[in-house]
Amino acid sequence: MTVRPAYHALSAHHGKVGGALLRDLFAEDPRRGERFAAEAAGLYLDYSKQRVTGETLRLLAALARECGLNERIEAMFRGERINLTEGRAVLHVALRAPREARIVVDGRDVVPDVHATLDRMARFAAAVRDGAWRGHTGKPVRAVVNLGIGGSDLGPAMAYDALRHYATRDIGFRFVSNVDGTDLAEAVRDLDPETTLFVVSSKTFTTVETLTNARTARAWLVGRLRDDAAVGRHFVAVSTNAAEVEKFGIDTENMFGFWDWVGGRYSMDSAIGLSTMIAIGPEAFRAMLGGFHAMDEHFRSAPFERNLPALHALLCVWNANFLGAHSLAVLPYDQYLRRFPAYLQQLSMESNGKRVTRGGAEVGHETAQILWGEPGTNGQHSFFQLLHQGTRLVPCDFLGFCTSLNPLPEHHDLLMANLFAQGEALAFGKGEAEVRAEGVGEALVPHKTFPGNRPSNTILAEKLTPAVLGSLVAFYEHSVFTQGVIWDVNSFDQYGVELGKVLATRIHAELRAESEPRLAHDSSTNALIRRYRNRIF
Ligand code: F6P
Repeated sequence: MTVRPAYHALSAHHGKVGGALLRDLFAEDPRRGERFAAEAAGLYLDYSKQRVTGETLRLLAALARECGLNERIEAMFRGERINLTEGRAVLHVALRAPREARIVVDGRDVVPDVHATLDRMARFAAAVRDGAWRGHTGKPVRAVVNLGIGGSDLGPAMAYDALRHYATRDIGFRFVSNVDGTDLAEAVRDLDPETTLFVVSSKTFTTVETLTNARTARAWLVGRLRDDAAVGRHFVAVSTNAAEVEKFGIDTENMFGFWDWVGGRYSMDSAIGLSTMIAIGPEAFRAMLGGFHAMDEHFRSAPFERNLPALHALLCVWNANFLGAHSLAVLPYDQYLRRFPAYLQQLSMESNGKRVTRGGAEVGHETAQILWGEPGTNGQHSFFQLLHQGTRLVPCDFLGFCTSLNPLPEHHDLLMANLFAQGEALAFGKGEAEVRAEGVGEALVPHKTFPGNRPSNTILAEKLTPAVLGSLVAFYEHSVFTQGVIWDVNSFDQYGVELGKVLATRIHAELRAESEPRLAHDSSTNALIRRYRNRIF
């Protein structure tokens, strides 16, 4: 990125406008609030409170072009193996392609396979929902427990929460991810095994946390129903690895597959979404896919200047690489989206938390921001103090909906008033003169002053529907993709998770060894292991 002519132009431009005040930018252009906004696939993005001018955006778009964004988008949609380190295509866009589309990987059109799986999922989901699918003792399903971790948990868990309004209330849904036994123990504590269905979700079907939870869940079920054969009616699998599924003891008749061209963090709209489909029904699930697809089409075709995911990514690059922001706060003003920041953490940080370029050289610039967030208005009463008056620059994405799904009198206007107020306060602050004019004593003036000039986006939609959720997720997916292209990193591998896994396997054996093992770690790790083994307290 730093060798591109547009980058140099941006650096020079930053020298001129880096210190510009949002207050002045708005005063200079009375229509800025409407002009610095774009709309597509049910989403309205207001980026006028970002510290950019028209020229900044023009140069950022030029940088994206110079980094080959157009070509890379096409390469992704064409199914080229853009995940270079793993030699794989990256085709989550195929998961939501309409039936009549054609996307060829290795000479095979994958769209019919996608729809065949969706149709199987739909039949199964409908059978569970209407009670046709019976447990081992003949009872209908009343609880679905998804066992998975990372992308095999965060997507389904987030989507269930997000779309709970549309979910059947006849079945309860739980998501168990942590290898900490507390997660599973608390999840099944009050469940009836006769009416519980476990969905073991794992792309590889080798992930130790998920398989440990699945084995314990199987023991819980078989122990209570006193019949190994019960597994067949109470366990289904979602995976790309039929051999491991079979080895675990789940009939592949009860397995829903997907493909190596779907990354874990890009899989909530694949069979990994089985629990989502059981919750909201096949029709609503397809509506969600429609929302994803609408954003895909927009991303592929709209010029960068009006392209929502591209604009979002360009602003992230500007904030991270030119204004020095280290993090991005995502603040959904909607309780249903309470897990959305956690979902986006994996999407963004596992994708772009990289320190070498696609070619393996060290990058000469910052890459992924630390993404975090909490729903509004809760965050306002905890960490917003730092956002307004701290020393760090934290760009924010505010998300909100015009229509509430639970229109209790008073609540929604209050919620939205807070959303709009926070963006305004961050951008324009409250100067010393204003504080003094309120009669504040001199000693308190610095404490009560808000510097402002803190950038934010506001993303609005009419209502949180399955289609809007799809569109919102695709918006962030493509923003992450665009950021990765500009930073020249491979957004689709995750080697950074490997080392800890390998060391944990070794330490696990040492923790379980009968006799005191000979430890060859550093002195800190050795001492911790000894203390744990011998319960020294
Ligand atoms: O350890 C990281 C990771 O590989 C994620 O990328 C993935 O989403 C998660 O583990 C779970 O993997 P799987 O679906 O194969 O169990």
